[in-house]
Amino acid sequence: MDTFSIGGDLDVHRLGFGAMRITGKGIWGPPEDPEEAKRVLHRVVELGLNLIDTADSYGPEVSENLIAETLHPYPDGLVIATKGGLRRTGPGQWPRDARPERLKECCEASLRRLKLDRIDLYQLHSPDPQVPYEDSVGALKGLQDEGKIRHVGISNVSLDEFEQARGIVEVVTVQNRYNLEDRRSEDVLDACEQAGIGFIPWFPLATGRLAEPGGPLDRIAREHDATPAQIALAWLLARSPVMIPIPGTASVEHLEENVGAREIQLSREEVDEIGSASQG
Ligand SMILES: NC(=O)c1ccc[n+]([C@@H]2O[C@H](COP(=O)([O-])OP(=O)(O)OC[C@H]3O[C@@H](n4cnc5c(N)ncnc54)[C@H](OP(=O)(O)O)[C@@H]3O)[C@@H](O)[C@H]2O)c1
Repeated sequence: MDTFSIGGDLDVHRLGFGAMRITGKGIWGPPEDPEEAKRVLHRVVELGLNLIDTADSYGPEVSENLIAETLHPYPDGLVIATKGGLRRTGPGQWPRDARPERLKECCEASLRRLKLDRIDLYQLHSPDPQVPYEDSVGALKGLQDEGKIRHVGISNVSLDEFEQARGIVEVVTVQNRYNLEDRRSEDVLDACEQAGIGFIPWFPLATGRLAEPGGPLDRIAREHDATPAQIALAWLLARSPVMIPIPGTASVEHLEENVGAREIQLSREEVDEIGSASQG
């Protein structure tokens, strides 16, 4: 099975689960079907995925609470990656707040909700323009020194911010928006690959758009007896050995479909063709 070693000691399958979608509309409040959301989480583990990405702001608190309620005590080897640094003021609203004192509170609250003594991967959700980036990253280093987090990840960063963070703490993952249609983070991805740092592309399916029939992935999908969503994910997996997609879904059916992408081997020609067709 295709794995990646995060920080040298967290071995994860190179396809994880994004737990932002097990919440309500606008990523606010409980999911429409809480029982299905719990079935999704159980199925994640049954299917052998061992990286779940969440954040205190998903719900807020809803995603972390559901993960703990459904999966604690956690199976060996399950890595729960969470984040802090955003506030929620309403559906679809995500103001930033990455002041060091606030990040410490966020981390403590995530530890309690997730029922953990230490968070395997804690990610700074976004740089906060009101706070010097080194102060926010420095707060995560402080939490790591205190033993509250094992590894530090960053998210929504430019190449400059990536380099700046790496000068302060060992960064083991970067989580940026990246999919077939949006490759603005190509430079950060290349830098991660060079440094052996995990790159977690969020929006891997462009919120489901890449899964729709009639798009540029249709033909290749038919040739592989696969769906467009699976081809979009297989393309990401083929793009770089440090790529760890975390497609999000609130449906067991979609989860199973997405996990099927791990079985698809694209040729080099197909990778190039898909890459150029979808940028049009
Ligand atoms: N760091 C950040 O700032 C940041 C920002 C956004 C997201 N994230 C993380 O990245 C993860 C992935 O991003 P995302 O969830 O926004 O986007 P995504 O994975 O690209 O798309 C998720 C959407 O696609 C639909 N979908 C999933 N699988 C499908 C399939 N096989 N066929 C058709 N539709 C499908 C889902 O709806 P259904 O529920 O109906 O399947 C959902 O609405 C999130 O869950 C979260 O953990 C991080």
